[in-house]
Amino acid sequence: MKMVQIDGTDILLIHDSAGEWHASQGICTHEYFELDKGFLTDGTLTCALHLSRFDLETGEALDPPAELPLALYPVIAEDGQVYLVLPEGPIPVNE
Ligand code: FES
Repeated sequence: MKMVQIDGTDILLIHDSAGEWHASQGICTHEYFELDKGFLTDGTLTCALHLSRFDLETGEALDPPAELPLALYPVIAEDGQVYLVLPEGPIPVNE
């Protein structure tokens, strides 16, 4: 996992054990905590502060205390490059 900042927004890039790329908002939806300090298990990202898990395919919060899903962003990986597909304007983040 690697945190990047785009236009002042933290975005977490994830390369999972299956070789798939994912991108999500970089800060937990429960409280302010950087998700690159968490860990990956079986298609989920776990926040290290209160241990809520998030589904990497849907962003859904699978365990309390987090209730809101993570915002996910499409990723295109080709020719050794990784591209994020982001909307114009503010990057959507759930908080
Ligand atoms: S800050 Fe992530 S679960 Fe509480």
